[in-house]
Amino acid sequence: MLEAEIQKVRQQAEAEIASVTDPQHLEEFRISYLARKGQVAALFDALRAAPPSEKPRLGKLLNELRSHLQMLFEEKSASLVPKQQGTARTDLTLPGRKHFRGTKHPVIQTLDEITSIFISMGFGIAEGPEIETDYYNFGALNFPPDHPARDMQDTFFLTEQALLRTHTSPVQIRVMEKHSPPVRVIMPGKVYRNEALSARSLCVFHQVEGLYVDKDVTFSELRGTLVAFAKQFYGPNLKYRFRPSFFPFTEPSAEMDITCFICSGAGCRMCKQTGWLEILGCGMVDPNVFKAVGYDPEKYTGYAFGMGIERTAALRYGVDDLRLFYDNDVRFLAQF
Ligand code: DAH
Repeated sequence: MLEAEIQKVRQQAEAEIASVTDPQHLEEFRISYLARKGQVAALFDALRAAPPSEKPRLGKLLNELRSHLQMLFEEKSASLVPKQQGTARTDLTLPGRKHFRGTKHPVIQTLDEITSIFISMGFGIAEGPEIETDYYNFGALNFPPDHPARDMQDTFFLTEQALLRTHTSPVQIRVMEKHSPPVRVIMPGKVYRNEALSARSLCVFHQVEGLYVDKDVTFSELRGTLVAFAKQFYGPNLKYRFRPSFFPFTEPSAEMDITCFICSGAGCRMCKQTGWLEILGCGMVDPNVFKAVGYDPEKYTGYAFGMGIERTAALRYGVDDLRLFYDNDVRFLAQF
């Protein structure tokens, strides 16, 4: 009896699987034969009622039936998987893949802008090494040995004489050593200071240095050039002031401030309640610097200036923490 049943189910299943052409139909086949309440399971239930002497033989037949149907199911299942090549169609309605484009880093954008303004005013570009000697970084720039002015710069020394330059001013010396006046250049580059990182200071940052030397260069030319620059860079309605300051390599020395563009001079966090933002240091080249490079201070005068680029970019874009420029967070960088 049971044996005949097993045969019947086998034949039925073979006939049925041959006609299966889609996954849904295949699933019906599985449920009908192989699922927990399917026909094979029902035959196993029936096996319990079989005479004990017959059980081993019938059990074996049933096991064979089950693996046979399982195999038929798997073969069919594999044959129904869509062929990767040829039959799969390209869906032309899918949205395209987005390509992300990089942009220039805001610090480099700022540097480029500053450079192009000075180039339009007739300045050339010069560069110098980041590893400098004590002489170029300090001595030739009229920092006397052991003078407290050296404390203005927290220096990374590599050896007793070699150091990471603390400013771009040594490039002035290198340019003047190589060229006789007139000299009119800007000198962009990286500088290093042994300082704790904070919202206001970094230990690696960029500066742009400027130098103009000729006969009869005056402070009012310095002023005029820097004001023209600031108006182009920060906007034509800018208000500014020059404050007396001190640098060993310039005499007289000054710092240039502009009115805070966040509060328009009323006082806020950005300008530390003063209404003013310092944008650069400048002055007339000290005669001792000319002597160091072999220029005759009786014959030539000149002006110099220097500004920090990260600081400039921060002022320009209203960024209140310089460290943001180097966190490399695309959500920040993508805004520029
Ligand atoms: N070297 C100065 C600094 O790092 C900036 C500076 C001030 C440069 C006055 C100049 C200058 O050329 O004239 O803080």
